[in-house]
Amino acid sequence: MSSGQKAGVLKNPHESKMYSRFSHFYDRIFTRLFTERIVNAVQALNIRPGARVLEVGVGTGLSLAAYPAHCEVTGIDLAPDMLERAREKAFDNGWRHIQLREMDALNLDFPDNAFDYVTSFHVISVVPDPVRMMKEIHRVCKPEGKVVIINHFRTTKPVLGPIVGALDPLTRRLGWSASLRLKQAFDGVPIRIEQRFKTSPLSLFTVVVAKNEKQTRNGHRIPNNGAGHPSQTGEPLLRP
Ligand SMILES: C[S@@+](CC[C@H](N)C(=O)[O-])C[C@H]1O[C@@H](n2cnc3c(N)ncnc32)[C@H](O)[C@@H]1O
Repeated sequence: MSSGQKAGVLKNPHESKMYSRFSHFYDRIFTRLFTERIVNAVQALNIRPGARVLEVGVGTGLSLAAYPAHCEVTGIDLAPDMLERAREKAFDNGWRHIQLREMDALNLDFPDNAFDYVTSFHVISVVPDPVRMMKEIHRVCKPEGKVVIINHFRTTKPVLGPIVGALDPLTRRLGWSASLRLKQAFDGVPIRIEQRFKTSPLSLFTVVVAKNEKQTRNGHRIPNNGAGHPSQTGEPLLRP
C-alpha cells in the first residue's frame, strides 16, 4: 500500500483515475467550473512579449487559449493522458508558442531562473508534496518573476473548515485533497503573496498572485536552499 492510502479509503490524489482512465471526461466536468477564472487570471498578468511562461500541471490545457502568442509557454504534467488532450488542443488551434512536456512538478527539469512567469491551477492540492512543488516553482522562476496559483484551500473558519476537511478521503479519490491550507503550501518558500482573492464570495477557489523573492532589499541573492529566507528574518510571507 502506498503512503497516503489506508485500507482503500485514503488515496494519493495524483493517482486518481481522473487523470488517466477518465481523462476524456475531464473537460466535460471542469471546463465550466474552471476556465473563466483561469483565463481572467492569465489575462490580468499582461504577459509581456518574449516572456517565458511555465504552467505546472497543465492537464488537458483548459488555460492554453489564454496565453498570448507573443510569449513562449511550456506546459508540464505528469499524466500522459491529460497531456494528450492538451496536445490535441494545441495542434487543432495551431498554437506554436506552446510546448507540452511530461514532467514531475516535484522535480522540474529546468535550470534555475528559467521563467518570467509560473502558473499552476488546481494542482498544488493534487501533488503529494505541495511545499516541494512551490520550492521548485521558486527555483525555476526568475527573481521578481510572477507566480499565479489558483486552488481550493481549506478555510480557517471554525465550523466550515472541519466539515470540508472531513470530505478529504472522498476528494482524494476524485483527485485532490480538501485539507490543504494556503499557509501550509507556501511554508518556508520565499514567494511573497501580493494578492489573494476569490472571484465571488461563495467561490471555493482562491486566486493567489505572488512575486518570487530571490533578493533581499539590499540586492543580495537569497540562496535557493532557503537560507536567509524572509520567514527566518522576521519578514511576513503572507499578506492578509
Ligand atoms: C485537477 S487537474 C488540473 C489541471 C489543469 N491545471 C486545470 O486547471 O484544469 C491536476 C493536474 O495535476 C497533474 N499532476 C498531479 N501530480 C503531478 C505532478 N507530480 N507533476 C505534474 N503534474 C501533476 C495531474 O496529472 C492533473 O493533470
